[in-house]
Amino acid sequence: SNLEYIITKKVGEKNNIGLVQLNRPKALNALCDGLVTELTEAVSAYDADDKVGAIIVTGSERAFAAGADIKEMLNQTYSSNLKTGLLQQWDNLSKCKKPIIAAVNGFALGGGCELAMMCDIIYAGEKAKFGQPEIIIGTIPGAGGTQRMIRSCGKSFAMEVCLSGNQITAQEALMRGLVSKVFPPEKLVEEAIKLAEKISEHSPLIVALCKESVNHAYESTLSQGLKFEKKLFYGTFATDDRKEGMAAFVEKRKPNFTNN
Ligand code: HXC
Repeated sequence: SNLEYIITKKVGEKNNIGLVQLNRPKALNALCDGLVTELTEAVSAYDADDKVGAIIVTGSERAFAAGADIKEMLNQTYSSNLKTGLLQQWDNLSKCKKPIIAAVNGFALGGGCELAMMCDIIYAGEKAKFGQPEIIIGTIPGAGGTQRMIRSCGKSFAMEVCLSGNQITAQEALMRGLVSKVFPPEKLVEEAIKLAEKISEHSPLIVALCKESVNHAYESTLSQGLKFEKKLFYGTFATDDRKEGMAAFVEKRKPNFTNN
């Protein structure tokens, strides 16, 4: 392939997990334009691939990603940002219907932390370091750092992270609810694959509805969200897979989902 900044491969026993590994070691996976383009294209391709049930984004043991590329941003201006829509392509990631798991070893700073938070689930290696150090270089987070962290960790902590620029350990990230589990670094990707495989046993159609419903909590009041959830729940009864899933339970056998 002609990828410069990432490595993609299908993994898992059934080869049904799309793995995207950020691979720009010289810059600790700093998220230059080319890297983000390759990343978003790889994720869309896996999203469109019927043989893929879930996607994993990871980096190296040293760095998940050390942020947006500071050298690339150095000479940009307010008007050039407006004209080129700096960082707008990042939003393509949130269009992905399939679950994305971030497997974070090493540094997840600035845009790297934001990238992890854009994913649906974060697993961290014991030596992972999260943070929003933009403030140190005279700017602020620009891809969700001031918005998503407060939702998973609360105001005081999110404020402290964004205003101090301090790094957070994996253990602290776990305690604050930023990540769901922590593993030894060398086990991290394999654990992410296990989770992705577990998710991929379910009906892809229903998994996508479930992801959509959880994400809706970000966008709505509780009563609106509950109503939305109920519509989707009722909607599952229009699918073959809902019928198959319940029939399999009653008949004490494994379901055979058809994605219909
Ligand atoms: C460009 C980067 C980079 C970055 C590291 N490098 N981070 N290049 N952009 N964000 C490069 C370094 O310049 C260096 O290359 C090489 O990677 C190794 O980094 P070192 O600093 O030598 O490593 P170390 O001493 O181990 O320190 C690691 C580090 C530090 C703590 C992660 O690199 C660091 O503080 N990086 C910047 C973190 C940051 O501020 N991120 C937020 C960026 S702003 P050379 O060739 O120079 O030796 C941001 C805005 C988000 O993300 C907006 C939305 C996306």
